[in-house]
Amino acid sequence: MNQEVLVINMRIFYRSLSLLLGFFSFQMKVNGTDGAEVNIAAWGTVSQSTSLNNLNGIYALDGKNYTCAHTLTQSDPWWMLDLLKTYSVNRVTITNRFDCCNTRINGSEIRIGNNSSDFFSNPVCAVVSTIPAGATYSYSCDGMEGRYVTVNIPGDSKILTLCEVGVYVIFQDNLSAGRNVTQSSTYGLWSAEHAIDFNPGLTKSWSACSSTKVQTNPWWRVDLSSVYRVSSVVITNRLDCCPERINGAEIRIGNSLENNGNNNPICAVISSIPAGVSSTYICNDMEGRYMNLSIPGDSRILTLCEVEVYGEGPLLKKTLVKIKLKSSSTLSEPEMRAQLLSQLQSVLEERGFSDVTLKWSQPPEMEVKRKEAAPAQSARRKR
Ligand SMILES: *[C@@H]1O[C@H](CO)[C@@H](O)[C@H](O)[C@H]1NC(C)=O
Ligand SMILES: *[C@@H]1O[C@H](CO)[C@@H](O)[C@H](O)[C@H]1NC(C)=O
Ligand SMILES: *[C@@H]1O[C@H](CO)[C@@H](O)[C@H](O)[C@H]1NC(C)=O
Ligand SMILES: *[C@@H]1O[C@H](CO)[C@@H](O)[C@H](O)[C@H]1NC(C)=O
Ligand SMILES: *[C@@H]1O[C@H](CO)[C@@H](O)[C@H](O)[C@H]1NC(C)=O
Ligand SMILES: *[C@@H]1O[C@H](CO)[C@@H](O)[C@H](O)[C@H]1NC(C)=O
Ligand SMILES: *[C@@H]1O[C@H](CO)[C@@H](O)[C@H](O)[C@H]1NC(C)=O
Repeated sequence: MNQEVLVINMRIFYRSLSLLLGFFSFQMKVNGTDGAEVNIAAWGTVSQSTSLNNLNGIYALDGKNYTCAHTLTQSDPWWMLDLLKTYSVNRVTITNRFDCCNTRINGSEIRIGNNSSDFFSNPVCAVVSTIPAGATYSYSCDGMEGRYVTVNIPGDSKILTLCEVGVYVIFQDNLSAGRNVTQSSTYGLWSAEHAIDFNPGLTKSWSACSSTKVQTNPWWRVDLSSVYRVSSVVITNRLDCCPERINGAEIRIGNSLENNGNNNPICAVISSIPAGVSSTYICNDMEGRYMNLSIPGDSRILTLCEVEVYGEGPLLKKTLVKIKLKSSSTLSEPEMRAQLLSQLQSVLEERGFSDVTLKWSQPPEMEVKRKEAAPAQSARRKR
């Protein structure tokens, strides 16, 4: 039996005694992605009670442990990060100065909550006892929820110096995270990936949102890499300007890239999303591997600050294949049938189809065919 011919051409030419007819089903399975812990501190805006020589709050968020935010000597100095929306904070890290006076940080309080005017009323995540010079210490906040993260030192004649602050949030899986994305054109640095970077782009949209150039029918697409049953899609619109540009965008979900994806059914048409808001569109378990967003029309721009896709899956994709094959073994025996499947499976694996599972959906039927006297029949075998 020539397995290559069997698998690749899906037809087999026979010239001898037995003929078998069976059905195979192919099942595809794909692994999902993991949740991710992300430092979101740089996504917010920062302020502090006073600043020594312009060493303002931002120096605690610049990724450099040798530049530090620094208050004047004062009562109850504080540093405050506004994340612009509520997050569930897993932990906060503080990097202390290495050049001098590292014990000044002793007694600092880390708070997380929603009150910006009276943040001393927000719950305390941790109190810093001490941090060695130049060290970074991590404080677990166990999912405390809030929009504001503050560090303050209670007492008179205090100086707060923060060389780096990290705010870590665990983002649960959703179907778009970590996938391949593309868009019809890219404006400057506004790459397609920014729509799935977890960052809603409420500050610095240029480094956190995707955008096409001005064009006819701009689109953005995510390849979920396998078929999912999509229950909802959440889209975050930009905060900084022009929220109306999203109006009229179509959300399509399906498996086809034919006819430019326009054959796929529409989940929703976005009428409008207010600036900086995340809107949810219910897709009623539409099935598909691709989700396309597009705005029909001339001189349009598609800007997306975050796209989240929720649903179930991956769905197993079943394909029934009916084949005829020649075999000298008796495939009426289950062992022989199993052996044939595993042979087919290894041929598929050699050819790179490692995510396929073969099963008999119907046992093969045997047909005995008498060998023809005329040689014409036997000459039909091809490669
Ligand atoms: C800060 O904490 C360290 C370690 O516990 C201690 O040695 C030091 O005296 C403290 N300094 C102040 C100013 O509280
Ligand atoms: C802050 O607001 C969010 C959402 O409104 C809420 O879930 C959270 O518990 C609040 N945090 C605190 C500390 O009250
Ligand atoms: C913040 O705290 C102040 C003073 O305790 C209180 O009057 C105010 O209502 C609080 N604001 C919020 C949003 O909780
Ligand atoms: C600053 O951070 C870098 C990178 O993490 C590290 O290699 C370096 O030792 C740190 N410098 C100081 C003075 O702590
Ligand atoms: C992205 O696409 C490339 C090329 O098609 C593929 O090799 C890769 O596995 C894809 N990655 C994901 C996360 O789907
Ligand atoms: C899903 O992932 C997106 C980024 O792709 C992120 O913005 C969002 O917060 C995530 N949702 C949840 C519930 O974790
Ligand atoms: C869907 O995405 C493909 C790119 O993969 C693109 O060619 C097509 O135009 C998109 N369809 C729509 C309706 O935006």
